[in-house]
Amino acid sequence: MKFRTTRPDSWQVCLTCSHELTELDPRTRCPACGGLLEVRHRPPTLSGAELIERFTDRRGQRPGAAASGVWRFREIVLPSAGEVVSHPEGNTPLLHRDALDRWTGADRLLLKHEGHNPTGSFKDRGMTVGVTQARRVGATAVACASTGNTSASLAAYAAHAGIPGLVLVPADQVALGKLAQTLAYGARTLLVRGDFDACLALVEEASRHLGVYLLNSINPFRIEGQKTIVFELLQQLGWDPPDWIVLPAGNLGNTAAFGKALLEAHRWGLISRLPRLAAVQAAGAAPFARSFSEDFETRYTVRAETVATAIRIGDPASFERAVHAIRETEGVVLAVSDAEILEAKAAVDACGVGCEPASAASVAGVRDLVRRGLMAPDEHAVAVLTGHVLKDPGILLTYHRDTEPPPAGANRPIEIDATLSEIERVLKR
Ligand code: F0G
Repeated sequence: MKFRTTRPDSWQVCLTCSHELTELDPRTRCPACGGLLEVRHRPPTLSGAELIERFTDRRGQRPGAAASGVWRFREIVLPSAGEVVSHPEGNTPLLHRDALDRWTGADRLLLKHEGHNPTGSFKDRGMTVGVTQARRVGATAVACASTGNTSASLAAYAAHAGIPGLVLVPADQVALGKLAQTLAYGARTLLVRGDFDACLALVEEASRHLGVYLLNSINPFRIEGQKTIVFELLQQLGWDPPDWIVLPAGNLGNTAAFGKALLEAHRWGLISRLPRLAAVQAAGAAPFARSFSEDFETRYTVRAETVATAIRIGDPASFERAVHAIRETEGVVLAVSDAEILEAKAAVDACGVGCEPASAASVAGVRDLVRRGLMAPDEHAVAVLTGHVLKDPGILLTYHRDTEPPPAGANRPIEIDATLSEIERVLKR
């Protein structure tokens, strides 16, 4: 199908064969060829300056959806959305810590901390749009495969919308905080004997055969919501873009969303130049970095293994979208080792900011870019921290309390008798 008359506000298009679907078509892959879909919008009727004024007016409003750091940008997210399922979400801080400038070698590194979202990860931005869309298409149930954060977010937003939620997660590979949240918010939780890639294949099959609405980031409405990480950080910087935006990469939905957001912000007059994207994978789960090193000639699949369970993904679903994002922004893709991720995480945690392991990959990535001379120290970089420190308490206790011999940054708890002299003894040490 192709629209031949006046275009609606928004529609969906297959990135492989250009087949077009209406905005409310609930299928999450192209019915003609199985390719990935993208949401397209007619250019806003307002100018860039008028849009900026409107977004500024809405900032900090409460209560209601205009207070959301996602729906504040509704004209360039989902203009026809109407009533939305919003927590609200977004409005996450941009942080600076001298200690991380020293650790990375960048002069003024800013951290966009998405762990400050309602369920503790950036997934809430895609999920508010995804669950809003689920309601619009009359979904009777929603489902996803997840390494833990998407499932926690789906569970919370499905509960808010009153739609049953089903999640598939790899058994024994989900961080404790994420599994606990998913159970608490009430999603039906299936522990699959297999990895994330197996969970995703299975949930796609289930959505085709059982009619549940799929809310993984292959669903293009999730991508629309995740674009607002970029819109919001640009707004926080007065629409003066940084030189680099650095983010962890797993299934590549976020990399795709960042590229789309930047290209749209540029096309629609919100920014006058494009930052470069740097997508950072864990070395044991780095099929995208390998493809990048060969100019994306081959799409690789690996058996993924990393301490950063959130990005333990061997066959990223949004591969083509992310290739486009990297190419169009003159971006780079890199891989950092688990040791570098843990070192970066210890540095982020120790300055009182804190993040989950996968998030620290972006900070490790900044150090790597500076060391390799790809990023000049005085270039302005924003690293995205995707999840909260409490998402993965297990890894914290292993690192600080249980590892023998203690790693350099370990902060051992000390058990004492309940006496003042014991405290004195510890302070003198
Ligand atoms: N950081 C965190 C904390 C994540 O949870 C994820 C993905 C990523 C980075 C990577 O983003 O997949 O868009 O490239 N987590 C998914 C999940 C897979 O199920 O929660 P991506």
